[in-house]
Amino acid sequence: MFNAKEFIENSLKEIRKTVGESRVISACSGGVDSTVTTVLVHKAVGDKLVAVFIDDGLRREGEPEFVVKTLKNLSIRTKYVDAKKEFFEVFKGKTDAEEKRKAFRDKFYKTLGKAAKEEKIKFIAQGTIKADVIETVKGIKSQHNVLEQIGINPEVYGYKILEPLRELFKPDVRKVARELGLPKEVSERMPFPGPALSLRVLGEVTPEKIAIVRKATEIVEEETRTLGTFQNFAVLHSDKATGIKEGKRIYGNIITVRIVDSEDAVTAKARQVPYEILMRISERITGEIPSVARCLYDTTHKPPATIEFE
Ligand code: XMP
Repeated sequence: MFNAKEFIENSLKEIRKTVGESRVISACSGGVDSTVTTVLVHKAVGDKLVAVFIDDGLRREGEPEFVVKTLKNLSIRTKYVDAKKEFFEVFKGKTDAEEKRKAFRDKFYKTLGKAAKEEKIKFIAQGTIKADVIETVKGIKSQHNVLEQIGINPEVYGYKILEPLRELFKPDVRKVARELGLPKEVSERMPFPGPALSLRVLGEVTPEKIAIVRKATEIVEEETRTLGTFQNFAVLHSDKATGIKEGKRIYGNIITVRIVDSEDAVTAKARQVPYEILMRISERITGEIPSVARCLYDTTHKPPATIEFE
């Protein structure tokens, strides 16, 4: 049986031993994994840590503000980096899912590396958990945060990696979050991938497409809050479909809604959502987002599908 209190005690000792007198940077996206990592390291080394929130322009509505506020409320020294333009630049012309992930990962580490240099740090803390490691090793996909397994030597980027949660699965990470007294919005936060909404715009990522999927995501989250599912989100397709808006035929965008139950993201079941909820989501998405003409629901489990579309 996992003991969160014991885990925290051991983890703090280990972080202190590894880090010594060096300075640490922690890239915090606001998700439970990276926030728990940041808080653990902060508890271990105090102001030798600086947390960084990289605004890549791919976050959900209100997320950048939420993350920065949460970290500041925890008295953690926090740096906000606005890298929106640079991220959109690297996505130009890229349509392949793994190419997009690579582009995101390179930009992410370059941006973090720059912040790290400015702060003269030696260690980068990040919230890699066991599922990330397993799936990357199995070759299912290259998670952006599992550097060593995919043959990237972190030393090349000029720093060492600290991953205190790499042996934990998500439910245990949540237990640690509760034990640390983190707010519910963090400890119970829905998993959200590192490359964020870029995985949910199929094909090329542009600011306009991100804005569409961001709005659709907000609607899905609002309408499914009470379901207690593992992940609920929207995906924007790269192809279009015929529809009718304001009496005119249009060639409009397609959104797929995905709502899944899972314990650890390794397998997942598509939820049999009450039809009224699906209809409300569909009416809102096609009604509130002018370019969207069609809304679909994904009934595929994992396997054979993955949770994300890319
Ligand atoms: P899949 O799509 O592989 O997702 O079934 C399993 C879990 O991992 C999340 N996910 C990612 N997280 N970087 C991340 O940090 C990624 O590239 C990535 N791809 C998927 C996904 O949201 C789900 O919770």
